[in-house]
Amino acid sequence: MQNELETTLSDAVIARLSADADPRFRRVMTSLIRHLHDFVREVELTEEEWFDAIKFLTATGQKCDDKRQEFILLSDVLGVSMLVDAINHRSSGGTTETTVLGPFFVHGAKEIENGDDMAAGWNGEPTYVSGRVLSTEGKPIAGALLDLWQSNSEGRYDVQLADSGGKQLRAKLRTDAAGCFRFRTILPTSYPVPTDGPVGEVLRRMGRHPMRPAHLHFIVSASGYETVVTHLFVKGDPYLDSDAVFGVKDALIVDFARNESQVEAQKLGLTAPFYSANYVFVLRATHEAKQHAARAASDAA
Ligand code: BEZ
Ligand code: FE
Repeated sequence: MQNELETTLSDAVIARLSADADPRFRRVMTSLIRHLHDFVREVELTEEEWFDAIKFLTATGQKCDDKRQEFILLSDVLGVSMLVDAINHRSSGGTTETTVLGPFFVHGAKEIENGDDMAAGWNGEPTYVSGRVLSTEGKPIAGALLDLWQSNSEGRYDVQLADSGGKQLRAKLRTDAAGCFRFRTILPTSYPVPTDGPVGEVLRRMGRHPMRPAHLHFIVSASGYETVVTHLFVKGDPYLDSDAVFGVKDALIVDFARNESQVEAQKLGLTAPFYSANYVFVLRATHEAKQHAARAASDAA
């Protein structure tokens, strides 16, 4: 028979929340307690499972350091990161789709010039990426900053390598006066998310593979515009339909076309065969920038 506490405890815990607590915090904590208790009741959590969960969360925290964020990885593989992304970037209204940041972004990559090779010294398939950054009105955004990073041809990021020699396969690049950008690199490959920690163990127990389809990471920002955190995925990758972190959106799948022409390759500073992709990023003006423009227009009238 059910003990009375099983049904009354949730309300009792919620009732202890102070009326003076920040209203948003109260709302989040009330819902968290309600859902957590409902979950425990629904699965009838055993004491052993409760302690396994405590050990798992402890191990997840212990796996984190300045180069590894196991909690972000946990959020990613459970689909929470993409759910937060979807809720916070609704009705994109023609702007570039967003996706997960992932755990491998590092501040302070070197600035390169348009046309430079961000993969100098790394083996891989030569690749040329070009495109533009536009506003939702189709206006070129000059001086937009692209923060780029990717894995090497074996699917590893510099921070995962013991001897990478600092920041590698990362760069910052600015659009020119026409809002255009271009850079050389190597073709990214599909790779597994880190599986040597508690999250890898959970993936194995769920019978899930850890692979992410090949992609390049971008953070595109410009003064007066909302920043876009996204990837470009390589069309044809076998993991596009089963990304371990649910990050793929159709609009972000791009043709990295293979080109055998040595003449074309030389024009771009590459060797044949090479791959090339082109993409237009579209940014939305921030609310403040829109208000500022509206004020300026009414002052001028
Ligand atoms: C990444 O794309 O770098 C990534 C994203 C989520 C989890 C692990 C890696
Ligand atoms: Fe990645």
